[in-house]
Amino acid sequence: MSNIHIPESPWFSYRDGALACDRVALESIASEFDTPAFVYSGAAIDDAYRSIDEALSFAPHLIAYAIKANGNLAVLSRLASQGCGADIVSIGEMQRALKAGFPPERIIYSGVGKRREEIVAAAQAGIRALHVENLQELDVVESVALELGRSLAIGLRVNPDVDAQTHPYIATGLRESKFGLSIPVAESILPRILNSPHLELEAVACHIGSQLASPKPLREAIEILGNFAKRCMEQGARLRAIDVGGGWPMHYGQEEDPYPPAQAFGDAIRQGLESADVLRPDIEIITEPGRALVGDAGVLLTRVLYTKMQGERRFVIVDAAMTELIRPALYGAYHAIMPLREPSPDAELVSVDVVGPVCESGDFVAKDRPLPDVRQGDLLAIRGAGAYGREMQSMYNARPLPPEVLVDGSRSRLVRRRSGPEALWQGEIFE
Ligand code: LLP
Repeated sequence: MSNIHIPESPWFSYRDGALACDRVALESIASEFDTPAFVYSGAAIDDAYRSIDEALSFAPHLIAYAIKANGNLAVLSRLASQGCGADIVSIGEMQRALKAGFPPERIIYSGVGKRREEIVAAAQAGIRALHVENLQELDVVESVALELGRSLAIGLRVNPDVDAQTHPYIATGLRESKFGLSIPVAESILPRILNSPHLELEAVACHIGSQLASPKPLREAIEILGNFAKRCMEQGARLRAIDVGGGWPMHYGQEEDPYPPAQAFGDAIRQGLESADVLRPDIEIITEPGRALVGDAGVLLTRVLYTKMQGERRFVIVDAAMTELIRPALYGAYHAIMPLREPSPDAELVSVDVVGPVCESGDFVAKDRPLPDVRQGDLLAIRGAGAYGREMQSMYNARPLPPEVLVDGSRSRLVRRRSGPEALWQGEIFE
């Protein structure tokens, strides 16, 4: 099956002809919890966390998991218990992070449009820092600090104007993007920040984009960020951290060359900081990986409802849809598909469109995908669904939210129930 682009994973592999997540046959999960269902490998999450942790072992660091990738409480609490922090972008995410056990001093708040109430709530919860990326936002943060009669720790997110060479929807570090402050603007407001009794500049930050195929743009951006950090310190800032953003990639399977390992991204961070001469034992590195921690740890299990020929096209209609995994519809994203029953190595491949039941032509999982013969009733695993799957789900077409199952070795447990009909009209008022 090598020519159908399946990323290698020790966590999702065939055992005696049946696809397993760690040591649990996915078929048994499908029969217990039905489909569609998300299944996560706890060991894969731990392993991904360890590899980023090791890649940054050259300096004190905080891995602030971008919880927008997957905010399931069981996933969060697993990461929190390993010393991981959280990068949040809303108060909803803060509430999730706190509920799952992240200590507030390991939570940083990023995001381009924070409401005043959100800033107040974050300050009251005592999170580590608010990352500011707008002059008007800075005014609001300062006024909240004044109102609360204290100072607030902030980070300045700058836009280094570096091309991340990734999908345009997930590139964030170019001048034209809505994210961050341009460096000249950030520099011009330094005196104001440093003179304010209500603001403490504790970090500088950038995030150039997701799914970086090469560490080169990261190194370039970090050198720019590091030089900015140095100028902040020269002007009197007592910086506690440099936040280098996310972007650590994961393998979806269609990549022409395998991405460099986490260590290469760690090295790029070190080199960028070294060239700016800001690699110091008293400055912590913060990074905000999302998908690299959870993406390959998850699959979306689905069953083939029907197949049909339409003109020349062969359709495989499955019970998962854009409601569970919108990435193919939104970005044309590739997700590998594995039948739960291992195909024979010489199985003939047929090109099919794998589509969901939602009434949209854009509702597809894969187009023109070579797959071994797939029949009505077969079970499939859609790989790489641990990140931005459940978080971007919807109930469009009044579809229930799928269950989530966490596997640990040979045990599996339900970590979210499939939603019932009441969730469909929750909060609605009629009569
Ligand atoms: N930090 C910041 C400030 C971010 O905006 C993001 C992602 C991350 C960290 C984590 O990025 P990651 O390590 O997961 O690549 N829905 C899209 C991804 C949007 C990412 C938005 N920001 C997708 O499914 O690819």
